[in-house]
Amino acid sequence: MTQPSICYLNGDYLPLEEAKVPVLDRGFIFGDGIYEMIPAFSGHAFRLKEHLHRLINSLDAVHIKHPYSISEWTDLINTIIQKNGTGHQAIYLQITRGVAHRDHAFPDQSKPTIFIMSNPLPETQKAKPVSATVLEDPRWNNCDIKAISLLPNVLLRHQAREKGAYEAILIRDGFLTEGAASNVFIVSDGKVKTPPKGPKLLPGITRDVVVELLHKNNIPCEEAEVTETELRNADEIWLTSSTKEILPVTQLDGEPVGSGKEGLIWKRTVVLYQTFKDEFTGTEAA
Ligand code: PDD
Repeated sequence: MTQPSICYLNGDYLPLEEAKVPVLDRGFIFGDGIYEMIPAFSGHAFRLKEHLHRLINSLDAVHIKHPYSISEWTDLINTIIQKNGTGHQAIYLQITRGVAHRDHAFPDQSKPTIFIMSNPLPETQKAKPVSATVLEDPRWNNCDIKAISLLPNVLLRHQAREKGAYEAILIRDGFLTEGAASNVFIVSDGKVKTPPKGPKLLPGITRDVVVELLHKNNIPCEEAEVTETELRNADEIWLTSSTKEILPVTQLDGEPVGSGKEGLIWKRTVVLYQTFKDEFTGTEAA
């Protein structure tokens, strides 16, 4: 029997189907809000401190007052995880500027809308080789904010899907930024490279774990600009995200990436990542 999904909305825990937000919520009207996506394995939120740190940075960047302290956020997230069973979960948090008469300017008074839900995190989505297409990055210069206004990302992903590809890999002024919903790594001549953090990309939590693990295990890794030519000539390309972990891209615009199969360094890194997760949850590899 499947359990109903329990969410949190403005102080209440309730079944997802019963959660309602007024149409004048600025999240609905303007996309005026921010979000987080936190994976939880066997009841434990993964890299919670880091996700909450990014959440606070996003709130500050859009001038929404912190509705809760770090320990209150932690309690709320742990409660949602407990209420939704022991399976792996993707915890989605959304904070908007709240309900107000429609006006672009910030309202004098509004209470942020706070919503948290849990979705199952199926293992089967992970580690499957995928295809990607290279597209121009048309987004703004604040891609480090995890904003809910994701129309460019949605359109880019749609464009990729129309071309038969799984993900759009984005190029701005000749340099790699990230994927429509992922960070990107390349491997060339045994060296791993990923673009440096900054306003052009989301500082991915998975990205940071991967960089950390590569350094710890003496696999050469550089956070440096990647040109489109380097991307197209790479031996391996990986996508990282909290829900997909580390995906190998084996086809780029219809051409094989390297051998056209999962790369050796990807294979090593995935083992390191799984081991790291297992140590974190204290459970066997899934
Ligand atoms: N997105 N870049 C973008 C634009 C993203 O949307 C995401 C993840 C990432 C990877 O970040 P992290 O490793 O912290 O998940 C990079 C989430 C999963 C989403 O929107 O569903």
